[in-house]
Amino acid sequence: MRVVVVGSINQDVVAHVERIPSPGETVLASSMLRSGGGKGANQAVAARRAGGAEVAFVGAVGVDVEGTQLRRALEHDGIDVAGLAQLEGPSGIALISVDSQAENAIVVIPGANGRIISLSDSQRTVVAEAGVLLTQLEIPLSLVAEAAAGRRADAWHVLNAAPASPLASEGVELRGFVDVLIVNEHEALDVSGTDHVAEAVAVLSARVPALVVTLGGAGSIVVCGGERVDIRSFPVEAVDTTGAGDTFCGVFAATLAASGRAPDSVDVSLLAAAARAGAAAAALAVTRLGAQDAVPSAADVAALLIEGASS
Ligand code: RIB
Repeated sequence: MRVVVVGSINQDVVAHVERIPSPGETVLASSMLRSGGGKGANQAVAARRAGGAEVAFVGAVGVDVEGTQLRRALEHDGIDVAGLAQLEGPSGIALISVDSQAENAIVVIPGANGRIISLSDSQRTVVAEAGVLLTQLEIPLSLVAEAAAGRRADAWHVLNAAPASPLASEGVELRGFVDVLIVNEHEALDVSGTDHVAEAVAVLSARVPALVVTLGGAGSIVVCGGERVDIRSFPVEAVDTTGAGDTFCGVFAATLAASGRAPDSVDVSLLAAAARAGAAAAALAVTRLGAQDAVPSAADVAALLIEGASS
């Protein structure tokens, strides 16, 4: 089953700082790193490195050197980039500060990601080949909606609602639109319009067939068919949390694809297994610098899952 990711692709410019500056403040970085990024591209890399899954990426880069490098990096990972358009103007750039606690602050200049407002014929063909369609909200919502509508009837739509958005006020009715919604705790509050995670879980799980709420070091919650499973996190020493959520989503989608099952046969145990694999991959990712640079191999993830099962 093929994973098709429709989403953003950025050149990340990362500054390592002691602490993230307050408004009006200047701080000096100890080092910097340029890495492939963008929530969509990061998720495609994670799905691909999870092993086995055929992965295609649909999005847009600009006509600059960054666009060429970003495309090559995906190709190098064995990702099908036939759906990666090249548009006039610059590629997306993300300016990222990572502090000594491994936390980050990100400013995205969307570039080509913001200029692609509808799918081309060739991109529609790629979407129609998806067994699992994986989307996020770092591209225009119209594009996410078009991709979701263009998927096969038996294909999954996994939506990672990041960056956060109050989707309902933008006219998106989640029911029928997504099979699995993945949000972190902040996104859960924004999408549900509630003030507490428990309330958000109740509201959102009534609106989608399956819900995953990631809670960083506190693990994640999986809800499906009235059943809930709490997934433990893997304790690690974090150095950079950038892209950890993307790694979770990519590996989650690849696990669904590997199951060969269709969304109408979803159950909580399949989703819990996918979330466990995603959590192991995300734990490894935070021990390394960068976004795509930090995505672990399938072998490393399998080893951590085995170690976690025995501890
Ligand atoms: O989720 C992390 C990503 O957010 C970074 O790679 C950056 O490009 C932004 O899109």
